[in-house]
Amino acid sequence: MPSANSAKFIAFEGIDGAGKSTLIKLLNEKLIQQKIETHITAEPTKNHIGKIIRQILSGEKEGDERTIASLFLADRIDHLTHSEYGIMQYLSAGVNVITDRYYLSSYAYHVPHVSLDWVMEANSICAKVKRPDITFFIDISVDESMNRITNSRAGLEIFETRERITQVRQNYFDAMERVKDEENIVVVNGEQEVEKMFHNGTGLWS
Ligand code: TYD
Repeated sequence: MPSANSAKFIAFEGIDGAGKSTLIKLLNEKLIQQKIETHITAEPTKNHIGKIIRQILSGEKEGDERTIASLFLADRIDHLTHSEYGIMQYLSAGVNVITDRYYLSSYAYHVPHVSLDWVMEANSICAKVKRPDITFFIDISVDESMNRITNSRAGLEIFETRERITQVRQNYFDAMERVKDEENIVVVNGEQEVEKMFHNGTGLWS
């Protein structure tokens, strides 16, 4: 087990279809081979607040965009601080943590329904508890995202999806520009071969 102060907190970010989960799975396999203890997690979580978020996102429960943005914040604080499954518990025990999405997702997905200023100020609670040691933004184009996620959707829905993905991708870049002095973000080309993604750019795993 690594010593507590060397445990790393790594976030993966990206638009729909970026391939975060595939990369996280492969990274985890490499870490297991190297006997590096790592906890893999994701947001929205599978915990109580995350469950409400999924019910709203699926349309099973009602919730407007401000409610959703606030629930994501609550889910994230719980994800960080819970005494059993909290990210801080793992890190302080010396276990690395990799999360599929963190507060950068909120900056990208909730704007312009709430302002970037509001969402950043609200999420500063989380940044004060723990900033990622590194955030990998897996970048793919809107066309590639559309290719990967839409096979059977109707015309209008595809149009709406394209508009939405274009906005989210732009929001990510706007937010990354805003936080570039505070956050350690590495943009990875998500359209290259997976093995190349592992070797390019970071030196974190080679
Ligand atoms: P999920 O089914 O886990 O998808 P993905 O594999 O793309 O991560 O759903 C996550 C959805 O929640 C995704 O569309 C992004 C959105 N989201 C927000 O709107 N705000 C947030 O703060 C986070 C973490 C995710």
